[in-house]
Amino acid sequence: MNNIDIPVITIDGPSGTGKGTVATALAARLGFHLLDSGALYRVLGVAVAHASIDLQDHEAIAQLARGLDIRFGQEGPGSVALAGTDISLEIRTDLGSDMASRVGAIPAAREALMDRQLAFRQPPGLVADGRDMGTVVFPAANPKIYLTASVEERAQRRYKQLLDKGIDAILRDLLQDLSERDERDSERSISPLKPADDAIVIDTTHLNEVEVMAQVMDLVQKALSAP
Ligand code: DC
Repeated sequence: MNNIDIPVITIDGPSGTGKGTVATALAARLGFHLLDSGALYRVLGVAVAHASIDLQDHEAIAQLARGLDIRFGQEGPGSVALAGTDISLEIRTDLGSDMASRVGAIPAAREALMDRQLAFRQPPGLVADGRDMGTVVFPAANPKIYLTASVEERAQRRYKQLLDKGIDAILRDLLQDLSERDERDSERSISPLKPADDAIVIDTTHLNEVEVMAQVMDLVQKALSAP
């Protein structure tokens, strides 16, 4: 099978829209591979922090990105290891989120992660989750889905997730963090967060997971059965 014949479905959008949950469920239902591109940026961000590299030193960050030994799924589904050490929890901390968004704004870092992302396109197909999957990394994907939700609703969801895990949180701070990250991800000069021209936008503010999945499955089935 030629690489360009392998189907790719992209799910882009800001944090807290349920992208990860939808992408994971969709890949499982279709038996497709899954690319969580945010995890790549998170690993790079954490690796930059570990190595105490200055965020202004773009060449050193790009070099680090090219050499990262990242393994997905070694310690179970969704797990991420860096050079043999499991960092699944560390990449989901506030520091991991903040560093991911900062390294994601560096053009040389994005370029350095490109081939790794393209390599996920393997038979029988790929579901790719991120910010620029449909606009930059897989521009020929079909369908391209873009999930959004109001920033208040996304902060509320994150707040509930943290409380459910027994972690104390302040809603106002979560709202501010999300707004800052949205702004940085949307206003960067390279691969900014925005829907592709041919993306289908689903606003999940007033939808539950089952309702979102139903809409997504409908779009995917139509696209995959189209001649
Ligand atoms: O999807 P996520 O919340 O795990 O992503 C964390 C950060 O990584 C996000 O704030 C911006 C960056 N990112 C990116 O720049 N490009 C992607 N394709 C995915 C994530």
